[in-house]
This record gives sequence, structure tokens and C-alpha cells, in this order.
Amino acid sequence: MRILGIETSCDETAAAVVDDGRFVASSVVSSQVDLHARFGGVVPEIASRAHVELVGPVVADALGEAGVELSGVDAVAACHGPGLAGALLVGVSAAKALALVADIPYVGVNHLEAHLYAAWLEEPELVPPLAVLIASGGHTLVVIVEDHGRYRVVGQTVDDAAGEAFDKVARFLGLGYPGGPAIDRLAREGAPDAIRFPRAMAGETDFSFSGLKTAVLHQVRRDPDASVADVAASFQAAVVDVLTRKLDAAADAIDARTLVVGGGVAANSALRASVDQLAADTGRAALIPPAELCTDNAAMIAATAWWRLRSDGPSPLDDGAFPSLKLPTSGTDTAAH
Ligand code: KG4
Ligand code: ZN
Repeated sequence: MRILGIETSCDETAAAVVDDGRFVASSVVSSQVDLHARFGGVVPEIASRAHVELVGPVVADALGEAGVELSGVDAVAACHGPGLAGALLVGVSAAKALALVADIPYVGVNHLEAHLYAAWLEEPELVPPLAVLIASGGHTLVVIVEDHGRYRVVGQTVDDAAGEAFDKVARFLGLGYPGGPAIDRLAREGAPDAIRFPRAMAGETDFSFSGLKTAVLHQVRRDPDASVADVAASFQAAVVDVLTRKLDAAADAIDARTLVVGGGVAANSALRASVDQLAADTGRAALIPPAELCTDNAAMIAATAWWRLRSDGPSPLDDGAFPSLKLPTSGTDTAAH
């Protein structure tokens, strides 16, 4: 089964064709970074307008690269939340229109669940239970995947998301937007142990990154001549340390054989190395999709749609967008928003 996926929840306009939920035939991502960079963050109205202009060409590119026509596609999926309302509606409307034209099912996909399903694009034979860390610009959570569609959130951020902390600290350090990749690059030239930043909520399952952000701010005001690379590396080390430890605790709790990491922050080289090391130290497997499948993309949307279509069937065409959608957890109705 061949599914066309569309992703427009934030500042990437993306489309992809994925076969049987696991095999990527094409994946096209058009980033709007240049449009938002001068504002230091995503401007929702600019994002929506850019999605309107880009979604048609990006879908055409994805079909072209996969070598298929719309008539060769079996279902169309779009990310329907969480995300920016106006931005989500562009992808949802485009997907529903294509589904109507081609007379094929439409599937609305949860963005967080999609970050999780990127793992199956990397390892098609992956079998739950899994301990998963999802760390993006808007969310940070540790999830136990008991089975397909059965999730238990065992920890989440009580304030800033990990990616948000990267973006805010980068802006403060004058490194521009988006901050994650900038800090990742600069940190390679710094010493991760130069400054000991706090690891909040140690011993608990939830996270907090707002105190760390403030600690960086105070540190730079106190010692403005300190190497920015050292500050970046030490900040990154604190985030990575906390994320790795919480994932480890969750994996221990269910004796998980496999660790999975997803979301934009999973593109971070230090986090990838740290989770790989944790897996090696604890005799587990680590599954971290390539960076381009960790940051926002539509292949993960099409992949998730395949699994959802099998278990829940298509979404109704009068379904809209759900800006504050949560990850559906075990025992609750997956349609509950
Ligand atoms: O998943 P994503 O692409 O979009 C959301 O769903 O939010 O995640 C974007 C976040 C941004 O905060 C960005 O700074 C961060 O992921 N990010 C990184 C890296 N690449 C992207 N953070 C740390 N290191 C990176 N290499
Ligand atoms: Zn995302």
C-alpha cells in the first residue's frame, strides 16, 4: 500500500511517498527557515502563507521523485496536530482535496506519534515494547510503547521543551535561528565540562529546562568573556545528560530491549552519541533514525498513517485540525483531542 503524506504543522512544508508504512519512495522537505530567521522564530501567519504557496509544488515533487501519479496512490495523510492552527489547516485541506479527487482514504496523523513511527522507517522489523524519547521544539516526553497504538507517557517537560531550550539559549548567545543545529556545531569546539550547569528534577520522571536556560543567562552575565563554545557545549551536555538518564530509567522500568529517539533534537550529535553509549553500556539496542527523519518530515506522517489505517480506518473528511492534540495514551479513545 502506497501512502502520500503531507506535513505542515510548523515551518517545514513536506510531502513524501511511503510504501507499507516502512519504505520511503520519496521525501521532500521545503524549509521556511530563511523566511523566519530575521524574526528569531516562527511567525505563524508567515508560515501559513508559505505553506499555501509551497504545498502544491512539494506534493508534485514527492510524487515525481517516487515516480507515481496521484492515481497510483492508495491513501493521503496529513499531520492534523499538534501544531500551528493555520499551518496545519493547509496540509489537512490539501490532503482532503487530493483524497476526494482520487477517491481514496484520508488519514489525519498525530505529529508526536509520527516522530515515534520514524523508527519503523529505519528498522521495518522493529518490535515493541520500546522505551522512546521524543524531543522536539514543542514537546519533550518519554514514552513506553507497549504495542502499536498503545503508549504510556512516563515523563514529560513541566516547562520548556528541549528544542525550545536550544532555540532560546542560541538566541541569547547570538547564534541565530534555529538554535539546535547552531549549538550542536559550535559545541564541537567547546568543552562540555567547562561549566557545570544544573540537571533539574534528577530522580523524577518529568523534565524541566527553564532553570537551565536561566542558569546559562546568569553565567554569561557573570562571565561575559567566557568562551561561547564552552557555554554551548556545557549547556548541550546538561540537556543530553538529563534526556539520556530519563530514557535509561524508563527502559529499566520495563526492561526494554530497545531504545528509540525521535523529534528534531534527536538530530543532535551529542544526544545520538550519548544514547548509543547508553545502549552499549546496558546491553540494549539503540534505534535513532537518520537526522532527516528526526526533524520534521512527511515520510513519518505517511508511515504512521499506514499503521493507523490498518487499526482505525480512514479519518472522516469533515475532520479538521487539532492544534493542541496529545499523544493518545493506552486506555483512552485515540479520537479524543
Ligand atoms: O521535530 P522538529 O523538527 O519540529 C517540532 O516538531 O518542533 O524539532 C525542531 C526542534 C528545534 O527546536 C530545533 O532547534 C531542534 O529541534 N533541533 C536540534 C537539532 N536540530 C534540530 N536541537 C539540537 N541539535 C540539533 N542538531
Ligand atoms: Zn516535529
